[in-house]
Amino acid sequence: MKVLAINGSPRGREGNTERILGPFLEGTQDAGAETEIIYLKDKKINHCRGCFSCWTRTPGICVHHDDMPQLLEKVFTADMLVYATPLYCFTVTGLMKDFLDRNISLVTPAIEAQDGRYFHNARNERERSRMSVVISSCGFPGTYNFSGLLETFKVMTRGKLNAAILSAQGGILQNPNLSETLSPFFTAVRSAGREVAELGHIKPTNQAIIDKDLMDPLEYQQKANAGWQAAINQGTKNEGMENRDGQ
Ligand SMILES: Cc1cc2nc3c(=O)[nH]c(=O)nc-3n(C[C@H](O)[C@H](O)[C@H](O)COP(=O)(O)O)c2cc1C
Repeated sequence: MKVLAINGSPRGREGNTERILGPFLEGTQDAGAETEIIYLKDKKINHCRGCFSCWTRTPGICVHHDDMPQLLEKVFTADMLVYATPLYCFTVTGLMKDFLDRNISLVTPAIEAQDGRYFHNARNERERSRMSVVISSCGFPGTYNFSGLLETFKVMTRGKLNAAILSAQGGILQNPNLSETLSPFFTAVRSAGREVAELGHIKPTNQAIIDKDLMDPLEYQQKANAGWQAAINQGTKNEGMENRDGQ
């Protein structure tokens, strides 16, 4: 099985989202998968122009000459796509949105209907059978923050989203002083990778661990605010609660 992860964070390998993506992919490797990560921040992806040339004049081919055709080649051969994006303004990042918009060349123009829902069919069969997973991290406490993002991926995959790992309180994912607190979460994420590869979904008991608050939300709020205040005072490029001693 080939698992292709798309990391849409402008912070790429250094980001909080990558901290979740890593163990998830390791879990899929435990199940025998081959994995690859594409960092969108390193790619040239132009905005969709909305010209629909990829539907009419040159079916399946976009007018832009950038990195997207090469990325779509990888998408074609993947058995599982993992969309990994931080939450920006309650949805995906701009990098991820440009990538998703440009996927429009993969579907045909005709509006199809099934069970009162409307959609565009994929140009090839593989598109229809691929597994998809969304991974996200956000700065606020509370998984409700992901409601818009989750709905986007559910509708986009026509109700066939295999799994969602949505981690609020993302500011603490990289704090070395909290490794013990975070350990059950990361273990559950790794198991989730294996489960999705083997079963097509995350087991409810494991999902419950993933969905739990990483720390008490009020404690998180206080620590995050103290972290930001310290960063302001020091004039550093600190990311709030990350890598700060004594927290
Ligand atoms: C422009 C911008 C918008 C953001 N919007 C939200 C938001 O709507 N809700 C939220 O909880 N966090 C928000 N955040 C915080 C990020 O989601 C959070 O820091 C995340 O863990 C970053 O992941 P990364 O390190 O992989 O980039 C935002 C951050 C930025 C820079």
